[in-house]
Amino acid sequence: MCGIVGYVGGQNAAPLLVEALGRLEHRGYDSAGVAVVGSQLRVTKRAGRVRDLAEVLPKRMPGRVGIGHTRWATHGPATDANAHPHTDESGAVAVVHNGIIDNAAALRARLVDQGVSLVSDTDTEVFAHLVALSDADTLEGKVVDALDAVEGTYGLAVVHAGFPDRVVVARNGSPLLVGVGDKEMFVASDLAALVRHTTTVAHLADGELATVTASGFTTFRRDLTRTQTTAREVDVDPSAYEHGPIDGRPRMYTEMLEQPASVERALRGRLDERFATAHLGGLEMDARELRAVRRVKILGCGSAYYVGQMGASLIEELARVPADAEAASEFRYRSPVIEPDTLYVAVSQSGETIDTLLAVEEIRRKGGRVIGLVNVVGSAIARACDGGIYLHAGPEIAVASTKALTTMFVGFALLALQLGRVRDLSVADGRRLVAGLQNLPAQIEQVLDGEERIAQAAKALAEAESLFFVGRVRGFPVAREGAQKFKEISYRHAEAYQMSELKHGPLALISPEVPTVAIVPDDELTDRNVAALHEIDARGGPLVVVTHAGVDLGDLRVERIDVPRSERELDPLLLTVPLQLLAYHAALALGHDVDKPRNLAKSVTVE
Ligand code: F6R
Repeated sequence: MCGIVGYVGGQNAAPLLVEALGRLEHRGYDSAGVAVVGSQLRVTKRAGRVRDLAEVLPKRMPGRVGIGHTRWATHGPATDANAHPHTDESGAVAVVHNGIIDNAAALRARLVDQGVSLVSDTDTEVFAHLVALSDADTLEGKVVDALDAVEGTYGLAVVHAGFPDRVVVARNGSPLLVGVGDKEMFVASDLAALVRHTTTVAHLADGELATVTASGFTTFRRDLTRTQTTAREVDVDPSAYEHGPIDGRPRMYTEMLEQPASVERALRGRLDERFATAHLGGLEMDARELRAVRRVKILGCGSAYYVGQMGASLIEELARVPADAEAASEFRYRSPVIEPDTLYVAVSQSGETIDTLLAVEEIRRKGGRVIGLVNVVGSAIARACDGGIYLHAGPEIAVASTKALTTMFVGFALLALQLGRVRDLSVADGRRLVAGLQNLPAQIEQVLDGEERIAQAAKALAEAESLFFVGRVRGFPVAREGAQKFKEISYRHAEAYQMSELKHGPLALISPEVPTVAIVPDDELTDRNVAALHEIDARGGPLVVVTHAGVDLGDLRVERIDVPRSERELDPLLLTVPLQLLAYHAALALGHDVDKPRNLAKSVTVE
């Protein structure tokens, strides 16, 4: 949520910053701006996309030091005035900020009392004034003075006309990276903005600040004592971070198509055929510790939460350990009991979702053990956990998550297998699951091959104002994820329900205008599911059924989508993939910007 970039070096900063902002647009895309320090400080900012900013950027905006921002509104609507960077009254200071200043209202009132005129509705603006009002001699001292007054979360970058050789950055709860180039240095909230220039990066820790000049960077704490954060080479493929459509297709599409490969990466080196188990070294738990786990609690938000529910089923089924998933955004507000023999699992693509991060911190504060299933290497959640595994989905750019979610499912399957095999799961079952997991990449490919038929079904669904996604037990989180994807990008009302609960209320809504997407795998519940389909059909409700070949749907009038059969426990993954395509084609049919759905941003770093 919100992207930050900064530059200090020998090049003209403005175009470089705008280009880097283009790579951060998935973090926020309602306004953007840059500030450049040359002979004076100049700011250009606009409501709209980065391309709108590029259009109004002055031809001459000289300066080799600058900061930039792409915004996702939290305080005040998307307007030119509310866009970052924010400046003080004299125009000497400019600030970009990601996060929320909790005491902004009090600080705004105090500044107004002091005679300062505020020109935006934002929390960030106060920071620019506080820096300007500090009488410290150095920019670092001014920033620290301002930080002493604010409460909240931030990734911040500050430039000052009086200190034209530097950018000062600070981090508390929102990510900040420093990139090391050749006689030039970069700052960003996200690796995506840096990789074109450098892959040598330092991650700031919470509570840390850095001074960044063309020749290097130094890190320090709020009391101005030095810290020893150093830059490291990260092993990434810069081309994977390119934004924008590939071959004219939205990123969501290419990311869906990448799933056979990303699932294969997530499995690589983690299956042990000889002992019919999985090895997740990153858990840092030996067999004795794994056996001591009495309960598993999974925490994630949005789609990560729904995949967490799929993961909980896998763990209960394979390891016979009670497991459940909970929305991380609710968890800490109900004063949860943290148990020493519960294994907590945080699941997150970005590794930055503040609700998940705060849940992890709460558990650790109370002495619980948390492992992470995280995609972004070195991210806050990955670092806050006691151990865990990386998902290896590769960079996910589209806001609607697809390939990260399927690798999360694989992560849970591996965890369940390893937990199961130190308990009662037999060698035969272990072998069955190892083989099932190995088959997944090719089977995903088969589902993707059925795109045309799914696209036809999606066009019909797109016409409905409101629809249901239903499933039972293993199929219910699949339905939840399907509904989530559909509403996110098609803006249609899509509600997920347990198929068994339909007759307890929602059946009243079924009509020819309200279609249902039903998840009906070939399993122990097929007959009951088919009976529920008859109830929908009898009320004229149009049906799209995601199922396995061989499931007899009798004389039901349905649009049928068959997926390959996997091991039963692994079925949810293959049942999820057609729902991604359904949502995608419905959004395309409705003419929406699939990669940048309204009101949403890729990583949610505010509560
Ligand atoms: C849905 C989606 C969101 C995220 C959620 C958690 O397509 O993208 O619901 O799943 O915001 O994000 P991460 O996984 O980054 O913690």
